[in-house]
Amino acid sequence: MRLALHSSRLALLAIPMCVALNAWSAQTRENCEREFAPRSGQAGKDVIWVPTQEELVMAMLKAAKVTPNDYVVDLGSGDGRIPIAAAKHFGAKALGLEYNPQMVKLAQCNVRAEGLTGKVQIREADIFETDFRDATVVTMYLLSDLNMKLRPTILTMKPGTRVVSNSFKMGEWSPDELIEPDNGYTRAYLWIVPAEIEGEWTFKSDGGHSPFELRIEQDFQEIKASVLGSTAGFTVKQATLRGADVQLAIADAKGNEQTLKGTVDGDTIRLKGTVAGKPATYVGRRS
Ligand SMILES: C[S@@+](CC[C@H](N)C(=O)[O-])C[C@H]1O[C@@H](n2cnc3c(N)ncnc32)[C@H](O)[C@@H]1O
Repeated sequence: MRLALHSSRLALLAIPMCVALNAWSAQTRENCEREFAPRSGQAGKDVIWVPTQEELVMAMLKAAKVTPNDYVVDLGSGDGRIPIAAAKHFGAKALGLEYNPQMVKLAQCNVRAEGLTGKVQIREADIFETDFRDATVVTMYLLSDLNMKLRPTILTMKPGTRVVSNSFKMGEWSPDELIEPDNGYTRAYLWIVPAEIEGEWTFKSDGGHSPFELRIEQDFQEIKASVLGSTAGFTVKQATLRGADVQLAIADAKGNEQTLKGTVDGDTIRLKGTVAGKPATYVGRRS
């Protein structure tokens, strides 16, 4: 009886406490903006601040297939909404790089208000003077010419790194995917950093299959492969590259098609498939 009375008092106390806690966390987020309320269109070092719409933030992170194993870096992070969403909804570790110190403070306050201090870091920095190459996902909402300035660095990042840009492209490097939420007026682009694969490659098999040589030409993620010499007895019908994953559709003299699939690791490509009805494994080295 006494225990029941005690529990019901606790329950009565718990309700206002919950309300107070909720109000406190909501208030904390609001307080962040009371300290400094950004204006859409306010000046920035290389580009003004305009926030990415929340719906597009989610679509960008979904398209990049962000997981808890990712390290997401937002270049010019504004109020921190992209790193915060990456950690809050996808469990990733995230970093925001932002030049404007007031925006940095606001974003750091938002991170604390969301209870994401251990997951999200916001750093005052110039994106053109900061090494972000350890990111597995890069996000940005900059301008075409700024994207172009970043492109050489992005192309040296680990093959498979996903890059998502709100609104702006990267010159003649075609995006791998167009991201268009249903609202019909915002869009973003996704690129997968391709492995650097151009050159002449000699493939040897450990299963008694004939060796062969390929010349691979590359234009970003687009590749063309041709067999060197005529000893291999097959031609490459189609070659595709996505990150470090390579796939070759080959046809023998009779026109039978097979697929070899594998990965690029620097100057080595490992391929697996079936050739002349037998499992085949090839290791290719670039000459
Ligand atoms: C268009 S806003 C995008 C903000 C955020 N990424 C988003 O999508 O909501 C661009 C941001 O980049 C910041 N910025 C401009 N030049 C910068 C630079 N060189 N280094 C770091 N941040 C910069 C601006 O202050 C602004 O907050």
